[in-house]
Amino acid sequence: MPKTKTKTLFVCQECGCQSIKWIGRCPDCEKWNTFVEEIISKEATSKDRAFFREAPKHLSDVELGETPRITIGMEELDRILGGGIVSGSVILVGGEPGIGKSTLLLQACGLLSDQKNIVLYVSGEESLTQTKLRAGRLKKSFSSELYIVNETDLEVILEHVNKLKPKVVVIDSIQIVYKQELSSSAGSVSQVRECAGELVYLAKTKGAALFLVGHVTKEGSIAGPKVLEHMVDTVLYFEGERYSNFRVLRAVKNRFGPTNEIGIFQMTGQGLREVTNPSEIFLSERCDDTVGSAVVPTMEGTRPLLVEIQALVSATNFGMPRRWSQGVDYNRAVLLMAVLEKRLGLKLQNQDVYVNVAGGVKIVEPAADLGIAVAVASSLKELPTLPKVALLGEVGLQAEVRGVTQVEARIHEAEKLGFKSCIIPETNLKELSTKGDIKIIPVKTVDQALKAALKRKR
Ligand code: TYD
Ligand code: MG
Repeated sequence: MPKTKTKTLFVCQECGCQSIKWIGRCPDCEKWNTFVEEIISKEATSKDRAFFREAPKHLSDVELGETPRITIGMEELDRILGGGIVSGSVILVGGEPGIGKSTLLLQACGLLSDQKNIVLYVSGEESLTQTKLRAGRLKKSFSSELYIVNETDLEVILEHVNKLKPKVVVIDSIQIVYKQELSSSAGSVSQVRECAGELVYLAKTKGAALFLVGHVTKEGSIAGPKVLEHMVDTVLYFEGERYSNFRVLRAVKNRFGPTNEIGIFQMTGQGLREVTNPSEIFLSERCDDTVGSAVVPTMEGTRPLLVEIQALVSATNFGMPRRWSQGVDYNRAVLLMAVLEKRLGLKLQNQDVYVNVAGGVKIVEPAADLGIAVAVASSLKELPTLPKVALLGEVGLQAEVRGVTQVEARIHEAEKLGFKSCIIPETNLKELSTKGDIKIIPVKTVDQALKAALKRKR
């Protein structure tokens, strides 16, 4: 690379206004603290264009080759990646510090190198001895194909990659890598973006798969302001509570596979262990015959997952009734309570209502509506839900039960876990092709669902 002095400019991240000096407030859009240093060297722009140098083709002439994939051998990780790592793809692994990113990637590297793939693990945050100690907890021995280096200078990292020609490179973490030409410190938006840009370019041209570890800042965005998400092919995001030992790895974006796919892991003394039967674990502590509990088969990507929704209704002590929810959208829960109040005449106006999803799972789809409504009604009426009944359905404002997607897969999962009956929206009935042992109860309204799901008073 010729040693010309790189030119930089400060650019407003909101409106694109440029300045040669850093300014606190953008003169154009008047936002504070939005100026970030960016490289404007000619070299960088010609490099960026290199991706697109081919002449335009007819879409019909484009040949479809098999995307070569390397299977890692960790079923959960392979599945959320869409069946293994695609060579030349870039995967961002985000999550809060201490959630298990380094552990997961070191385990994956171990498995990949066992299959005679050359793997380079760039550990910028931890020394070689620290990594070795961690490796000792994970596995007895690591293959000689696994190389590890403690480096943070981008140029040196690029040189290592060029020399070793690894199949897989892990950068742990991208926030600690820096490019000398930029005056800003490592972890700043411009450093992160420039370094990631060069690494992505290298991965694409050399055909190596690249994992970038990105710490998530307090605001929840992958630093800096989500700059990396659009540059990479796949974004995996670690969710979960640090104090529970379950970790959910979610594919937020994936150019080579389905999105919203999740993998569930358990943190153990020997690293992360895959959880292949999550429904069983999430329901393991549930007792039958409890008031205010409903089991819902939700879909996470292509996988059905049985979760327990719990509700607690108790008399309000102060004037304003309280509503609280965890794991389901607060506004959705409040709306369902309004439907129960207005359409079914349930007296919730002087009751506090708390809704929770057991096991720290987050449900975003409306298919859980009926479960929430039934759990709340069950707690208010002090009537337990019938044992071994699963519920699904979206609830409309007229208290009608609307159809949901992938009913068959959901029912099948409930059946697998020993559920005897499943309450489903009537509109979904015609989609069912195979009849299993599970009893299907079609309903049109929330009222019908309550009659079918709750125990009668003796
Ligand atoms: P780590 O992978 O270092 O997190 P990140 O890279 O996302 O910051 O995870 C570290 C946590 O996991 C730490 O709190 C210790 C714990 N841990 C285990 O419980 N078991 C293990 O085998 C390992 C390696 C770590
Ligand atoms: Mg780490």
